[in-house]
Amino acid sequence: MADPNEKYSVQRFHAVDEPENPAYSRCSTWVQAVSHGFHQERRNPEYLAKTLASYTIDHRELTGVYVNGAVPDHALGADVPVATYATMRKSLNVGFGRQLESNLVTSVTVRGTHRRNGILRGMITADLQGAKDDGLAMAALTASEGSIYGRFGFGVATFERSIKVDTGPRFRLKGKATGTVEVADPAVLLDVAPKVFARVQRVSPGSIERQEYYRLAASGSIGHDGKPDAAVRSALHYDAAGTLDGYVSYRFKGWDNKPYTMEIVDLVAATNEAYLDLWRFLGSIDLIDLVTWSEAPVDDPLTWALEDPRVIESSDVRDMLWLRILDTPAALQARSFPAAGRLVLEVTDSLGLAGGTWVLESDGGAAAVVEAEPGEAPDLTMDVTELGSMYLGAVSPVTLAAAGRICEHRPGAAFTAQQLFAVERSAHCLTHF
Ligand SMILES: CC(C)(COP(=O)(O)OP(=O)(O)OC[C@H]1O[C@@H](n2cnc3c(N)ncnc32)[C@H](O)[C@@H]1OP(=O)(O)O)[C@@H](O)C(=O)NCCC(=O)NCCS
Repeated sequence: MADPNEKYSVQRFHAVDEPENPAYSRCSTWVQAVSHGFHQERRNPEYLAKTLASYTIDHRELTGVYVNGAVPDHALGADVPVATYATMRKSLNVGFGRQLESNLVTSVTVRGTHRRNGILRGMITADLQGAKDDGLAMAALTASEGSIYGRFGFGVATFERSIKVDTGPRFRLKGKATGTVEVADPAVLLDVAPKVFARVQRVSPGSIERQEYYRLAASGSIGHDGKPDAAVRSALHYDAAGTLDGYVSYRFKGWDNKPYTMEIVDLVAATNEAYLDLWRFLGSIDLIDLVTWSEAPVDDPLTWALEDPRVIESSDVRDMLWLRILDTPAALQARSFPAAGRLVLEVTDSLGLAGGTWVLESDGGAAAVVEAEPGEAPDLTMDVTELGSMYLGAVSPVTLAAAGRICEHRPGAAFTAQQLFAVERSAHCLTHF
C-alpha cells in the first residue's frame, strides 16, 4: 500500500461562519465534500451558511485530507478534500446522572477514488490518540455500516428501532393523563427544546448532549435543503404543576400518502408521564391513521403502557451509539456501579490506548480502580470493543462470553460484571451526530 503521508496532506481547522473570513471557502468546500461522500445533493449557499453557523456553535474541529500536487485537468480541484472527518466534544450520560466529556466523531468520508489507502485509519488513529492526550476517556460515533469501526476499538453501546403506531380505535393507553398537552408554534422550540433536552440529558443513560442542529430541526427552522420546513408542527407537555417538561415536533406526510401518517421529527420527554401523555396526544390526532418514529427506544415504555401492544409495528432494530474507551481506569472511575463486587479485568487494545489489567472493586456505589499486581490472574479478558458495549449495559457480559467475545476465567465473573455494569434504565441515545 502506498504511504498515505506522501500522497496526501492533512489539515485540521475549526469551522468558521463569517463569509468574509478567508477560511469560509475552505469550510464550505469541506461541507460539500461531506455531502458528496454521503451521496447527498450539492449544497446551496443558504444550507452552507446555516450548517457552518451550527458547526461554529458546536466548536467542531474539521479535518480534510488533500491530494499533494496537481490534479488532472477538469477533475475536482486539489482544494476539495478527498477525505473528511470532524469532532466535537459533548457530555455522555454514563448512568446514575454522571456525565463524561466525550470526543464525538462524525462526517467520516473518503472519496471512492481514494478508498482503501489507509486514509480512514490514519485520521482515526491520530484523532483518538489526540483525544486521549487531551485527557478524554471516551470517544463515540454513529456508524453507516456495522463492519467498519470494531477494528478501531468501538463497540455498540445503544440500539434504536423504527416504529409505526396504528392510532385507530385499538390505540388506547392504560392509566390516565397526568399533565396537559398544548399545540404551539414550532418556533418556540428554538428556546424550549434545549431546556427540555438538558433535563433528559441529566436522567438518561446513553444520552449525548445535543448539537445546535437539533433545535433548528425540531422547530422547522431548517429542513433537508437548508430552507425552513413549513410542514413541521409541534406540541408541548406541561406537568400537573404547569411546568413544561416535554415536546414533540411532527410532520404530516400528505394526503397522497395512505394510510394518513404523521411522522415524528423529534420527541423529547423529561419524565415518564410526559412521554406517555405525548403519545396520548399523538394517538388522538384526528384524520391520522398512523404515527411513525425512526428513533424509538428498543426497551420502550410505550409497549407496556398500551392496552394492545400490537398497534406497534417495529422494524429495523439497529445499532445507534458506538463507544470507544480511550482510558480504561478513567472511564471506569467515571461510572457508578450499583452492585458490590470485585473483578480483575484484562483489556486488550490493538491501538495501544486502553489496554492493561485492572482491579475494579465496588461497594455498590463508589468504585476503586487500580492496576492489578503483576501476575494477578484476570477474571475476565476482553477487547476494548467489548468493554465499550458493556459500559452502559447494552449487552450482558454473559451474552458476550457466550458469543466467545469475552473469556471468563473464573466461573460467575461474567454475571458479576452484568450486575456491576447495570444502569438505572435502559440506555438510549436521542442524539445522532
Ligand atoms: C468507510 C470509509 C470511510 C473507509 O475509508 P478508507 O480510507 O477506505 O478506509 P481505510 O483504507 O483506512 O481502511 C481501514 C480499515 O477499515 C476497513 N474498512 C474500510 N471501510 C470498510 C467497510 N465499509 N466495511 C468493512 N471494512 C472497511 C479496511 O478494510 C481497513 O481494514 P484494515 O486496516 O484492518 O486492513 C469509506 O469507504 C467511505 O467514505 N465510505 C462512505 C461513507 C461512510 O460510510 N462513512 C462512514 C460514516 S460513519
